[in-house]
Amino acid sequence: MKGIILAGGEGTRLHPLTKITSKQLLPVYDRPMIYYPLNTLLKAGISDILIIVAPKHSSDFLDLLGSGKEFGAHFTYEIQDKPEGIAQAFQIGADFIDGENCALILGDNIFTDDFTDVIKSFKTGAKIFAKKVPDPERFGVVDFKGDKVISIEEKPKNPKSFYAQTGFYLYDNSVIEKAKNLKPSARGELEITDLNITYLKEGNLSAEVVKGDWFDAGTFESLHEASLAVRKKKLGEPSIKVTIKTPQIHQSEFKGCTL
Ligand code: G1P
Repeated sequence: MKGIILAGGEGTRLHPLTKITSKQLLPVYDRPMIYYPLNTLLKAGISDILIIVAPKHSSDFLDLLGSGKEFGAHFTYEIQDKPEGIAQAFQIGADFIDGENCALILGDNIFTDDFTDVIKSFKTGAKIFAKKVPDPERFGVVDFKGDKVISIEEKPKNPKSFYAQTGFYLYDNSVIEKAKNLKPSARGELEITDLNITYLKEGNLSAEVVKGDWFDAGTFESLHEASLAVRKKKLGEPSIKVTIKTPQIHQSEFKGCTL
């Protein structure tokens, strides 16, 4: 199985941090963010990996990760010119995937689970990984019975379940053809949810629950929580639930550093 890490996008939700670097290069405790999804793939035995980056700061990824030799892996790089959706990874990565199955992980997604077994047993169709969250409307929302997906909706106003679709996905080789036929959504993106719906319509979409922690570190709060969780895990501190009160700071109100 081949692997793709999608580390494109402009990270506008993390301005001004992302004005001078990529979101996926920001620190999560003691490592750049991209190390975590990279480690998820490596740990699961995937070592032939395509890293898709935005044009801005693209050379920093090469400086940081290089050929992959240091990680016992082989890295290929491609540019996503514009943030035109997660599913575009399969158009950009078609030649790289070639005739194989493929795992996709988002460059800002941090998991503690080990996916070795599920990857080993994956043969056909598509598999998504779901996690129960208090705020499902922020995500793609999955409704499922056993491992069969019943519905999946991108950021619905009235979610049918509390399960978010995380940023880790397994696809058989038909993903290349399916991604070619996708049409941009109302927000102008090739949606991963639309790609998954094509598998769902064929009856080939299954779901697996993420047992360990999961963070989509794309906001200030989730980035901070991810750093705290990684620190706690590394230092072996007793598990204390950290509750952070979210201050609502709007860009227009931000007048400079008030700390
Ligand atoms: C994307 C997907 C969404 C998924 C999320 C996981 O959302 O569109 O379905 O739940 O990643 O991280 P985004 O973070 O791009 O808004």
